[in-house]
Amino acid sequence: MTIIYSTNAGSTERYAKMLSEKLSCEAVNITKAGDVSADEEIIFMSWIMAGTLQNYAAAKERFSNIKAVCAVGMFSTDDKLSEVKEKNGIEEEIFLLPGAFNMNNLSGMYKMMMGMAMKMIKSKLKESDDPKAKEIAEKFEEGFDLVNEENLTKVIEYLA
Ligand SMILES: Cc1cc2nc3c(=O)[nH]c(=O)nc-3n(C[C@H](O)[C@H](O)[C@H](O)COP(=O)(O)O)c2cc1C
Repeated sequence: MTIIYSTNAGSTERYAKMLSEKLSCEAVNITKAGDVSADEEIIFMSWIMAGTLQNYAAAKERFSNIKAVCAVGMFSTDDKLSEVKEKNGIEEEIFLLPGAFNMNNLSGMYKMMMGMAMKMIKSKLKESDDPKAKEIAEKFEEGFDLVNEENLTKVIEYLA
């Protein structure tokens, strides 16, 4: 079994390394997975960007035996789980893990995208005073880190 992961700011990589220790298997960045056999049993871990699980399509093409998928995002509620599953056409067992976010760790296009999202949320807030939007805007501004080994419990149970 091998963990293949895709990361931008590093939170998915942290989860991949935690899981690799727990399972005593290797965690390999998808960009460096050239030597991994196509029929190797894979746990695919990646981050969600604008609803899309990054590199999932590439992993499906490259590997024929994906046993489970872990999607790292802002939220880890059950309704989000089915949304991610449907939007990305994920057929494997899937787990949603809360990640980390900090504007200062972003660069280029991603920083621009999140800057725009922040502006939209803030202007919405001004209009409606929606407490949910307020909470999200605060989280964006302060940054957050929800990466925690405990979040992997269900994944480990499933793979046991
Ligand atoms: C440009 C951008 C878009 C994002 N879109 C989503 C999203 O649609 N849904 C979500 O749950 N999280 C979203 N996130 C949050 C990331 O998935 C989260 O910060 C994750 O921990 C990043 O993983 P990484 O540290 O491995 O790059 C987005 C983050 C960025 C930077």
